[in-house]
Amino acid sequence: MIQIDLRRLFLKDEIHSVIRQMINLINSPVCIMDSKGKKIIGEMDEGLSCEYPIALENRAIGMVYGGEKASVLAFLLSCLANLELEKKALGREALKKYREITLLYDIAEKLTASLDPKEAAQLVVDVAKMLIKADNISVMLKNEESGVFELLASSGRELHPGEGLKIGIGIAGGVFHSGRAEIVNDISSDDRYVSGAVRVSSLMCAPLKIKDRVIGVIYVSSEERAHYTAEDLKLLSALAFQAAADIENARLYDSLKETFLTTVHILAETIEKRDPYTGGHIKRVMNYSMAVGKELGLPELEMEHLELAAVLHDIGKISIRDSVLLKKGKLTVDEFAEIKMHPIYAEEILDHIKHLKGIIPGVKHHHERYDGSGYPEGLKGNDIDIIARIISVADAFDAMTTDRPYRERMELAEAFDELRANSGTQFDPRVVKAFFTACSENRIPVERQGK
Ligand SMILES: [Fe+2]
Repeated sequence: MIQIDLRRLFLKDEIHSVIRQMINLINSPVCIMDSKGKKIIGEMDEGLSCEYPIALENRAIGMVYGGEKASVLAFLLSCLANLELEKKALGREALKKYREITLLYDIAEKLTASLDPKEAAQLVVDVAKMLIKADNISVMLKNEESGVFELLASSGRELHPGEGLKIGIGIAGGVFHSGRAEIVNDISSDDRYVSGAVRVSSLMCAPLKIKDRVIGVIYVSSEERAHYTAEDLKLLSALAFQAAADIENARLYDSLKETFLTTVHILAETIEKRDPYTGGHIKRVMNYSMAVGKELGLPELEMEHLELAAVLHDIGKISIRDSVLLKKGKLTVDEFAEIKMHPIYAEEILDHIKHLKGIIPGVKHHHERYDGSGYPEGLKGNDIDIIARIISVADAFDAMTTDRPYRERMELAEAFDELRANSGTQFDPRVVKAFFTACSENRIPVERQGK
């Protein structure tokens, strides 16, 4: 509630001067006191027979004592105090609007950059919390398979923990079906309400719409009786509008990424089937690599590249003749030279795919050695992409611990010894160390490998 301090009102030069002029016009003694009975102007005297309240809306914020004419002064002061109140209220409203617009602008910017549906929904919840008085704010999306609302983000306790809220019921269900935002300030008067784990007295709900399709709702509730206004609902609807588009974008991006990843896996596994001896190699190299990458604390984008590079590390073998790739006996010098071309062939293939260009260094250099004696470029140490250094260890470990046409697999301990012995020459010692740490913490499923 906005307060007006009568004493501070008199500190304003223009107001002080108007009051002084009025007192001169009255031309008889007056005394003005604040609501606590403290004197502001004049002296209290027995001759001041009348008293008039200085009214701000319906309450007295001070008194004017004097003769009959003093009533005009009280009236003037009441008008000035009310004008001041209005000015303050307008100022506050303008500030609130400015804050809302700034927050909406900020959220629009952040949401457009966000490609994670949960992150996008949480941003909306956080902003709604700043703008609307509520105990609980939830963004719920329809789960197409189960037909219930799925909580994407919230502040406060979950309203319907466990099974979730069925789409067809409750006020949220009504808003979902009608596509129209609603305010229910007195929940007891609405028989659609389905009580949940949290006390609710008032609520607002707006649909998350993509054109005419409703994908979910944003739900705001208050434990105590609230007085949500049309303005509040407008604000919630604006947030819902912004959120829906960005959540949908993020969801589409997610599903596109998943489709892409599945296609890449299928492609790699189809190629792998050419050589029955290497069955499951890709999956194991990917698992080992990801565990090592995690141990090394690689950032999210590098982890994504690591996964793809591990899956596609031998894609270049598609260009190697069967007679060479599947040869059971010892390879001739020329044949080995042909095999050594597979990282170059991989680069040629990946270079045509926009989304896979980023993994070329990881794939092309997985046969480089830490001491510079590897191929195809003889790169050394940290000049070799970290992703390639990781795949190199994972690839070698899997080759050692699986049967090949020309030799049986090694004992696990023997393969570990090999990694240790070649750390610093063939392999990056940091990667070997991370591999052992991940193994010791059971994050690498090696127990079924080896003899
Ligand atoms: Fe390879």
